[in-house]
Amino acid sequence: MSAIKDRDAFASTLGAFAATVGSAVGLGNIWKFPYLTGSNGGAAFVLTYLLAVALVGIPIMVVEHVIGRRMRLNAVHAYERVVPGQKFWSAIGWAGLAAAILIMAFYTDVAGWVFAYVFKSFGAFFMGTKLTPETFGALAGGTWEPLFWQLAVLALTTGIIAAGVSKGIEKVTKTLMPLLFILLIICDIRALTLPGASAGVAYLFKPDLSKITATVLLSALGLAFFKLSLGMGTMTTYGSYLPNATRIVPNATRVALTDTAISLLAGLAIFPAVFAFGGTPAGGPGLLFNTIPLIFSQMPLGGLFTALFFCLTAIATIGAMVSLIEVPVAWAIERGHLKRPVAAALTGAVMFALGILATLSQNPLMANVKVFGKNFFDLFDFVSSNVLLPVGGLAIALVGGWLISKKDFTEEMNKGYATEPWHGRILFAFIKFLAPVLILLILLNSLGVIKLA
Ligand code: PHE
Repeated sequence: MSAIKDRDAFASTLGAFAATVGSAVGLGNIWKFPYLTGSNGGAAFVLTYLLAVALVGIPIMVVEHVIGRRMRLNAVHAYERVVPGQKFWSAIGWAGLAAAILIMAFYTDVAGWVFAYVFKSFGAFFMGTKLTPETFGALAGGTWEPLFWQLAVLALTTGIIAAGVSKGIEKVTKTLMPLLFILLIICDIRALTLPGASAGVAYLFKPDLSKITATVLLSALGLAFFKLSLGMGTMTTYGSYLPNATRIVPNATRVALTDTAISLLAGLAIFPAVFAFGGTPAGGPGLLFNTIPLIFSQMPLGGLFTALFFCLTAIATIGAMVSLIEVPVAWAIERGHLKRPVAAALTGAVMFALGILATLSQNPLMANVKVFGKNFFDLFDFVSSNVLLPVGGLAIALVGGWLISKKDFTEEMNKGYATEPWHGRILFAFIKFLAPVLILLILLNSLGVIKLA
């Protein structure tokens, strides 16, 4: 359908899978998932999160991949043209561009801390010193140091984008994802063989069903959006690079399963250690930057495991950031006919400009600068995750389930099969009815229109 010649794309189904997993896996797995599990009652939250991924996450990912591959265009142009005569759906793409820039503004701040901690934790291990909450306070509340790291992660990730879809994104994620997995398994073995580790395992996997409230259900659903990079055009853009031979439903299911497995493995590296050393599952940035070094330092070779843990977190952030940058870059290339490296540099510059605000909002100098009662970091996080992604997800479900012809939709969804596969109809029903209804509930709840718990 796309009129664009020589459009870059993923070279193989395996490469497409690696890039998509690379987008999904990130701070959401290693920072948000454990922290939300900790503050929402452990296994009950995990269980509802799994349901959210299955009932909403996978169906929406399928829609985005179908629309992306059908249109073979960036997110703005894909939604502008996907429903004939209804150009205004391009708003989904515009909101996605805005979300990508807002998410990157705070994401690069946190990723910058992670990269700084890779160096700091190896340094501490070799020097025989310890990382303390003061170390983190000085970094996050500083000026030049966090900005330096933020710029460094942006330079790294825009560099990967500049190299291209198959030669940059696909190649890098294909190498990094297995490495991340191995490092995570090493940290898991260490944590699970600690005396008293079983309390942490039970915390993750023995649900107390009475803790499943409507609030838990809804926050699990919100996390599923952020985790699987949904509702903002990332998966539409990656869908536009999918080979025709890739079977969309099994691919999306595998991506979601892998991402969920990595979240659980991250939980299994963190909670057993937390419980073994008598800590509590604390929330927010504190869990990653304060609790981990503190808890890990109490175990044999803990300094080394702290360093490995920050390495794997740093690796995880790369594929996610790359996918966020690619959304505006794909648009700039196709709309402005810019060369890829130029589009990458310009996008990186815009992201850095807003990122400075997010980073310095933690600085004591800006302690009093608030918009709607939030500093810039929290504001960007709130507006993107709690407003733009769910609204985008709902609109995407409506376009996929109701507005484009069912024949076109299922044809694209079932490409690669000789006859309609058994899951085709089930999935379409989820897309048409279940997913939009569930998303509408989160949305109304987060707006305060309905109060479910
Ligand atoms: N899924 C990524 C993570 O878990 C974040 C992300 C959100 C990436 C939206 C792309 C789009 O870290």
